[in-house]
Amino acid sequence: MLRGIFRTKSLNALLASTEEPNHALRRSLGPVQLTLLGVGGIIGAGIFSTVGTAAAGEANHLGAGPALILSFVLTAIACGFAALCYAEFASMVPVSGSAYTYSYATLGELIGWIIGWDLIIEYAVGNVAVAISWSGYFQALLRNVGIGFPAWLGIDFRTAAQAVEKLAAAKADGTVGSLLPEVVSAAGALDQAPRIFGIPLVFNLPAFLIIMLITCILVVGIRESAWFNSAMVALKLAIIGFFVIFGAFYVEPANWHPFAPNGFAGISAAAAIIFFAYIGFDAVSTAAEETRDPKRNMPIAIIASLVICTLIYILVAIVLTGLLPWTQLGTAEPLATAFSGLGMKWPTLVIALGAVFATSSVLIVFQLGQPRIFFSMARDGLLPAWAAKVHPKYRTPHITTWLTGIVVALFAGVANIGEVVELTNIGTLFAFVLVCAGVTVLRYKDPDRPRGFRVPFGPWLLPMLGVAACVFLMVYLPPASWWRFIGWLVLGMAVYFSYGYHHSLVGREAGRSPEAALPQRLAGLGFFLMGIGLFVIPHHAGPLELWREASTVGAVDHGRALWGLLLIGGGLLLATGGVVAARGERQAMS
Ligand code: ALA
Repeated sequence: MLRGIFRTKSLNALLASTEEPNHALRRSLGPVQLTLLGVGGIIGAGIFSTVGTAAAGEANHLGAGPALILSFVLTAIACGFAALCYAEFASMVPVSGSAYTYSYATLGELIGWIIGWDLIIEYAVGNVAVAISWSGYFQALLRNVGIGFPAWLGIDFRTAAQAVEKLAAAKADGTVGSLLPEVVSAAGALDQAPRIFGIPLVFNLPAFLIIMLITCILVVGIRESAWFNSAMVALKLAIIGFFVIFGAFYVEPANWHPFAPNGFAGISAAAAIIFFAYIGFDAVSTAAEETRDPKRNMPIAIIASLVICTLIYILVAIVLTGLLPWTQLGTAEPLATAFSGLGMKWPTLVIALGAVFATSSVLIVFQLGQPRIFFSMARDGLLPAWAAKVHPKYRTPHITTWLTGIVVALFAGVANIGEVVELTNIGTLFAFVLVCAGVTVLRYKDPDRPRGFRVPFGPWLLPMLGVAACVFLMVYLPPASWWRFIGWLVLGMAVYFSYGYHHSLVGREAGRSPEAALPQRLAGLGFFLMGIGLFVIPHHAGPLELWREASTVGAVDHGRALWGLLLIGGGLLLATGGVVAARGERQAMS
């Protein structure tokens, strides 16, 4: 059953597979375009949206206050270690699968699969969040220029329901006047929406449409996409420059006191949230097969884009926290709020425009990255072969590009941004942990392979600091993101045992049968039930509270906790039984 699941894919085979004529992408990107791709992927919804709750805090985490500046430094250090490790890998294995490929080559097939599956969280789920943020700013722009947009066509159900609750609470306190206009408009969405069988139909149409538009651009070609991206990056850098320089004239130093109102706990919680703002430098590595001289250009672009964005973020954080008291920054568009809070109208409009450009380029980079990871996984047999097909004319992985586009667009139409951001962070941090560990492993397993770039100070120090820093940030994410993340990984195991295990090219070499036997199907089903159980349980609680809810009749979430735990327990038994039976079968045969 478990024959060769830790078998690694040979680096020579990986490199050779990129040269096969049917699977070869077009090499056209140089260091400047690649760095712009990195900056394009980094500066977006994080700095324009999530930074608000990072500074001010919200129900499930503390805020950093003006010490947000230190949160940015803390996260930059963690990302810096990971960036050095990515740079070493990308210069050594310039293959489009990024962390998936690196883990396959170093830690074996099972870990490679887990990371490939995990990267769907970073790229596809991350882009769901960015598309929702794009839609929010786009609607704010329309509102600012006096164009009305139906609220029920620009929101998801949960955000609308939350807005109804906020409005009801504000009415009860007599504070409706202090609510933001977007909250009032969102609260009306459910009343205005057409209904089918009494259920209000709400859908975030702009979020859906922007993803579909970007998918069309990406199918046509990497050069066209890079061009579009460069234009968006230039515009967003200009607008961020405007925020920093114009905003500096209105900074009120009194707003920086107290500097760290929630101490180190607030700084760390904010660091875990604003990690979202840094995600993207690693996405550069997914374009490795479309890069000229990747051994040299990959490390340059990964490190340069991270350094540039860190400097920009620190400047933005200094100005942002100087413009308004930190408690007022907790909105979905804090950079715009910083000006609107001072009563300035046109700078608010400029910022909303900048956010639309910024998030567009992030969408491009991530929609570009996800299909290339699927493409690499399909080339290895872990996903169906049709996913590795390249368009005969455009030389892009068009099938996976369309597939990713449609799925991300549909989810962007219905998902809630806060939950999606936290899930993206935990999934990406996990990928960083494995990439850092992989550098150390490969220094021992394959010490002589030429590396265009080496992480300095030996195989242990910086990669292990990278692991520790990323785990530290993961610990500060709320329980809900942990449950969903584990649920997602378990679902991935179900797919692996039902499909990838039998179809993997490396597995075939290891002598696995191409047919799924009953015990393996049972293992797949068991993991599937566990995954469903992990999504059914209430996500606000840690393990002990969950157990209490399941065992206390009358507790608020008693039913969900009980059914979820039963599914998890039953699935675990089935998965374990399947694995044990398959092993027994092999021993009897031998
Ligand atoms: N770093 C990207 C953003 O902030 C994901 O939108």
